[in-house]
Amino acid sequence: RPRRCIVRGGEVVTAAGVVRSDVLVVDGVVAGLGSFEPGHDEVPADAEVIDAHGSYVLPGGVDFHTHLDSVFRGSIRTADDFASGTAAAVAGGTTTIVDFCRAEAGQSLADALADWRERVAAQRPWADYGAHMVLVQPDAETLEQLSGLPDLGVTSVKMYLAYPGQMMSDDEALLRAMQSAAESDMLVLVHAENGHAIKVLVGDALAAGHTEPDWHGKTRPPMTEAEAVMRASVLARLSGTRLYIVHVSSSEALAEIERARAAGTQIFAETCSHYLVFDESMLEGVPREIAARFVCSPPTRSLEDQTELWGALDSGPLDVLSSDHCPFALHGEKIVEGDFTHILNGLPGVEQRMAIAYQGVVDGHYTLARMVEIASSNPAKLAGLYPRKGEIAVGSDADLVILDPRQSSILSASTHHSAADYLPYEGMEVSGRVRQVLLRGETVFFDGAVLQNQRAGAYLHRSTPSHPLGETK
Ligand code: URP
Ligand code: ZN
Ligand code: ZN
Ligand code: ZN
Repeated sequence: RPRRCIVRGGEVVTAAGVVRSDVLVVDGVVAGLGSFEPGHDEVPADAEVIDAHGSYVLPGGVDFHTHLDSVFRGSIRTADDFASGTAAAVAGGTTTIVDFCRAEAGQSLADALADWRERVAAQRPWADYGAHMVLVQPDAETLEQLSGLPDLGVTSVKMYLAYPGQMMSDDEALLRAMQSAAESDMLVLVHAENGHAIKVLVGDALAAGHTEPDWHGKTRPPMTEAEAVMRASVLARLSGTRLYIVHVSSSEALAEIERARAAGTQIFAETCSHYLVFDESMLEGVPREIAARFVCSPPTRSLEDQTELWGALDSGPLDVLSSDHCPFALHGEKIVEGDFTHILNGLPGVEQRMAIAYQGVVDGHYTLARMVEIASSNPAKLAGLYPRKGEIAVGSDADLVILDPRQSSILSASTHHSAADYLPYEGMEVSGRVRQVLLRGETVFFDGAVLQNQRAGAYLHRSTPSHPLGETK
């Protein structure tokens, strides 16, 4: 007999707007919107009822940019694996993540993905997950393998213009990869910072004796980001590929995205939660141990940049709000000692992203419908998962977040689900509280806790990103 449940009396929010409606869920899929009463119509008297009166019912969050169980600088692993990281995700109302797979030297992309899937499944995630394929200075043989990825459910690649000698690709490799991606209709994600310019600025700073963490920011000025956005845009246009700029942090970069879009480049862009909350002063005049908590790349910018990012989430050119969740333990891998270049780049945020997105609604930066668009629907579309994910419509997965706007939450490492030993947002009060989260119709988070027997996250076979942003089902 099919499993039926009704989420009753909530305000259902989608990118199209807000409507008071019950949601009927049958076997993990949304089967109806409207008014449903147990014992009537197709609803048996003993159907599970979830009371959502006074709350919003949102589509589960889709985080298009997380780094779980991920190795940096050869051997340093992120604090969260797919267990703690997806517990954090669902606790914050995110039911889908897209993380990163990278081949070892000599390994084929298909083998790398098979290994990745096996490793992730063994960690029994709480959320559904997909993978972007990371390419580092790919050779011709690797690029030939790209055409096989869409059949395996991977429809995007990620490349870096930063981190020379580690992750960086040169322009030739990027353009060739873009040409291959265009042939296979894949999306190309780019970390846009000019790695060589930054290397020179870092060298100069260290030679002048500047070792303090604020020099992390000072050696990565906005123009090094804007130049890389512009360069990636030009190469994207030459190749005809679709480009997605990750973690946009500055108004200079926003201007380049707008210009590229106006010129006809198929360019999409995200910002990340931390750029909306923190600014450059977090690194300045405080003990190393405090400053290290906020070290990420690109660095946190000025308050003016922050204001522009909020505006760009409302009216463009930003399409997506991601977390770039990349946590390192402060008393461990983050590396607080030594000069600023030793500090690992990356912040936790997968659990706080939806709360910060909702705070943007409360603070008047955009509507509730737009919040759903940037935090769920648009990333689902770009991931090739829409309308299965990022939507509440008949046929969508019943990934539902019940958010109570009458309550508030204090963000803190003492209550978060990440394994990171700190939270950059420590003590921040935000409006709203995530009361309950469903993944494909099953409750995975309720009343502050993840359900230990509901670790049913599954690999997502993603399609070609095809649904136009700005159009709903
Ligand atoms: O600082 C950041 N963004 N760390 C994560 C690694 C990356 O750059 O994507
Ligand atoms: Zn009620
Ligand atoms: Zn990056
Ligand atoms: Zn990242």
